[in-house]
Amino acid sequence: VLKMAELDLQGKTVLIRQDLNVPVKDGVVTSAVRIDASIPTIKLALEKGAKVLVMSHLGRPTEGEYADEYSMAPVVTYLNQNLSVPVRLEKEYLSGVTVNEGEVVVLENVRFNVGEKKNSDELAQQYAALCDVFVMDAFGTAHRAQGSTHGVAKFAPTACAGPLLAGELEALGKALDNPARPLVAVVGGSKVSTKLTVLESLSKICDQLIVGGGISNTFVAARGYNVGKSLYEPDLIPQAQKLMNDLDIPAVTDVRIGTEFSETALATIKPVDAVLDNEEIMDLGPDSAQAMADILKNAKTILWNGPCGVFEFDNFSKGTEVVAQAIAQSDAFSVAGGGDTLAAIDKYGLADKISYISTGGGAFLEFVEGKVLPAVAILEERASK
Ligand code: 3PG
Repeated sequence: VLKMAELDLQGKTVLIRQDLNVPVKDGVVTSAVRIDASIPTIKLALEKGAKVLVMSHLGRPTEGEYADEYSMAPVVTYLNQNLSVPVRLEKEYLSGVTVNEGEVVVLENVRFNVGEKKNSDELAQQYAALCDVFVMDAFGTAHRAQGSTHGVAKFAPTACAGPLLAGELEALGKALDNPARPLVAVVGGSKVSTKLTVLESLSKICDQLIVGGGISNTFVAARGYNVGKSLYEPDLIPQAQKLMNDLDIPAVTDVRIGTEFSETALATIKPVDAVLDNEEIMDLGPDSAQAMADILKNAKTILWNGPCGVFEFDNFSKGTEVVAQAIAQSDAFSVAGGGDTLAAIDKYGLADKISYISTGGGAFLEFVEGKVLPAVAILEERASK
């Protein structure tokens, strides 16, 4: 694909689609990871002499209706504090917008626009008419074929990949296509059902698969142990068994249980075969976590998505922490992605020690599953013409 870094942007109006879909509370951005990852692209465009327009979605508002809680205003406030040029929010832009040199204009939430989600050509043409160059930089939204990610790229005079998108594709490609081995994947989170396709895809390419969190409970049950009142999915036991037949999935030998799902619940360490009916597995036990850490020590490539226990409760965060530290300390090329994973990395202060942290949630999983990302496919299509 064509890359923004290769283009002469002097005097050109560029429209950059970023994924600035960040959590907001009481009008304030509560995690700026995605904005921080997007800022270098804005700076590069400014350095190249471009007039910069930025667009993104935020949350899932009702189409055609403005709602304060989904406004880009908090993002604009954050950008103003972190860029040396003024940043302005533009609410009415579909019939044209003026960008002055030395300012950045952020367009209001694209999901307020009728036709955004269904990728209408009419809306896409309106976006395209705003710019000389469309820059797709929203890796986190590249799995959505919507007006601002896919449609606009069909009609813009020039369409290219921004540095964040290009960097994500390169890092994930390095981990997935021809990786240094052993390749170890860590997949945690609450449900097998939401990660089944990713588990199946990974089972074909990785050497070992570590499962954690609620997902691990289904595997514990599949090995025939009582899981008490733990979160698990009995319907998916056959799939878990098949994955265990196909691949080396280290067994959990001990667990941390609680008797209620709460921040203040006390954690008790137990062998995996001693869980009672009124107990809930909420984390790996120390022996299991250490065994997983030992596997990670020898890995050459690591892919990580999802926590290994209820890490947001301090009493049940040890398993995730031990695994996260092992990933951070390993010499492997490590790639992590997903909202909870980023929160865990943040909690343990390990951001500098992971080789690459993806800004994608759903997009990261779809890429790992080997799916085509439509917003990338259209850039390839345009580059081939
Ligand atoms: C995400 O947070 O995964 C992306 O911003 C996409 O958001 P969406 O799932 O609402 O399309």
